Amino acid sequence: MPTWRYWRFTDRGIMMEEPKLLALLKRKADEYISGEEIARGMGLSRAAIWKEVELLRGLGYRIEAKPRCGYRLEESPDKLYPWEIQEGLTTRFVGHNIIYFDQTDSTNNQAKEVLKKAPPDGTLVLAETQSAGRGRLGRAWFSPVTGGLWMTLILKPTLPVADIPKLTMMAAVALRKAIMQVTGVEALIKWPNDLLQNGRKICGILAELSGEADRLTHLIIGIGLNVNQVEEDFPEELRSIGTSLRIALGRKIRRRVLLQGILDQLEKEYLKVSDAGFQGVLEDCRRYSATLGANVIVSDGNRRLMGVAEEIEDNGGLRLLLPSGERVMVYSGDTTIKK
Ligand code: BTN
Repeated sequence: MPTWRYWRFTDRGIMMEEPKLLALLKRKADEYISGEEIARGMGLSRAAIWKEVELLRGLGYRIEAKPRCGYRLEESPDKLYPWEIQEGLTTRFVGHNIIYFDQTDSTNNQAKEVLKKAPPDGTLVLAETQSAGRGRLGRAWFSPVTGGLWMTLILKPTLPVADIPKLTMMAAVALRKAIMQVTGVEALIKWPNDLLQNGRKICGILAELSGEADRLTHLIIGIGLNVNQVEEDFPEELRSIGTSLRIALGRKIRRRVLLQGILDQLEKEYLKVSDAGFQGVLEDCRRYSATLGANVIVSDGNRRLMGVAEEIEDNGGLRLLLPSGERVMVYSGDTTIKK
């Protein structure tokens, strides 16, 4: 089980402490817990307890204080506090170390900072909102507060270097499965690693490597999943191309359970590819593909190719059949599916 940690915000980010008061309140669930009992349990004065209560309220917890009864936790906020994510998390290592930001520039940028401190495998950097979220090909990634999951997973793969790019496909498969399990939404994978719902983008992945080409040390997998935005939340230019789980389902989603499901699936798929290779991931990419069989345009930086997406090969590349009858392989790029 992951250890419980309590994080307080400072102007430089965050620091950790034991979440004693919250743990005490949660243990009693719907009951009141007297100030006396809390004072005994925490070794604090009544005044110090009041300060702790105010701190938890500041974090969004609804705590009722009733004269002669004590305190009761009424409701927890839909926030991604590490202790909320780790409570009930059943992974072996993914998400056991969480770096949380109320707001940051980009969780991928922060993950690169974290890398300097040799973080454990499976460290997760997450933020409620990003001011400079980055997408692929230098695009900006729209990351409004509490609208989605904006996070970066740090992995230390022991795979052959040639296989590492396929980990982004692994992430797409894990996300597809977790979303399906937790919400019932059946998103499709647009090669190489976007997720689409009703033809609109619901999730993007930005993977970046650290280390030298022949001595890669870490892979950071940035994930942006649109969860609770409504149409009007998207900027005008994204409305026809982006969507969210809330739009798909017509209701809000509690992100905590969804995130736990995602971490669980990411770990399962990661352990599978580490033990047995990518065959299963590739099969899932083909099974859940929005791309195969479609007329597509793929831009890979140098070329802009138009054709039918015929196959995802075992090396992760996409085989295209061009109108000339020629077949070409692309190994990375941006795909547009033609209607
Ligand atoms: C894309 O489809 O272009 C990739 C989008 C990736 C966005 C995520 S949000 C969390 C992480 N931090 C970033 O700055 N980008 C990724």
